[in-house]
Amino acid sequence: MEWGMKNRLSQLIQKDGKALFLPVDHGYFQGPTHCLEKPEETIKPLWQYADALMLTRGVLRNCIDPAIPKPIIMRVSGAVSVVGDLANESIVTSVREVIRLNASAVSMSVFVGTNGENKSLTNLSKLVDECEDYGIPVMAVTSVGRELEKREARYLALVARISAEIGARVVKTYYCKDNFEKVVDGCPVPIVIAGGPKTETQREVFDFVYDGIQKGAIGVNLGRNIWQTQHPVAAIRGIRAIIHEGYDAKEANDLYEQVIAGKA
Ligand code: 5RP
Repeated sequence: MEWGMKNRLSQLIQKDGKALFLPVDHGYFQGPTHCLEKPEETIKPLWQYADALMLTRGVLRNCIDPAIPKPIIMRVSGAVSVVGDLANESIVTSVREVIRLNASAVSMSVFVGTNGENKSLTNLSKLVDECEDYGIPVMAVTSVGRELEKREARYLALVARISAEIGARVVKTYYCKDNFEKVVDGCPVPIVIAGGPKTETQREVFDFVYDGIQKGAIGVNLGRNIWQTQHPVAAIRGIRAIIHEGYDAKEANDLYEQVIAGKA
């Protein structure tokens, strides 16, 4: 691996081999998402606890202080909306623009098991070809169609492996309770977990993050289960403690409650 690629990956994945990415890219297809109406306000109390921010160029340019000391993962796929066909994405930001904006990595969605399967995987292959020329890592944001029942290990493993085979340097996948280790073991590049829709309790988030890390994920790319919660700072601090400080889910939940009570 060349120096530039290694350097960018080391900005994202910390010395302990773990990572906490904070995605605030949801507006690219959802519009003004709840709690993300003003991204700069959402990010302000949280960015210091994240290892990298994932967002689009529009939010980067308009809402983020250029002096922020955090690496950026730029989402470069889109041109779809919640009222259209989500799987029919195109690449909407050039690699030249990624370099101009000094992003450390790019991300794009792949949709296996949908009408957009071939298009998104072809987009991934072209993006990897171009980004590798400049030492820029590509994170594949994997998905297996809209049906929740497809969030099973065998489908998640399928799309994670395909993305890595095409050349993604990092894969984002959903967590699944059963056999998550098969998703990790079948993927030759680091895996981060996404949160999906908000959970009932914060403890559930700590439980799945802890379990995912035990089973080999290097961290998370977690959005709504942080910034759509009642206590976003307490939530991200609990998650960070699991990822970087070896806390279990109960210890993270205790920290969460202490932060809320102003005791930590
Ligand atoms: C959708 C994304 C998000 O970055 C990813 O799904 C993680 O966010 P969440 O934890 O809210 O699911 O790619 O835009």
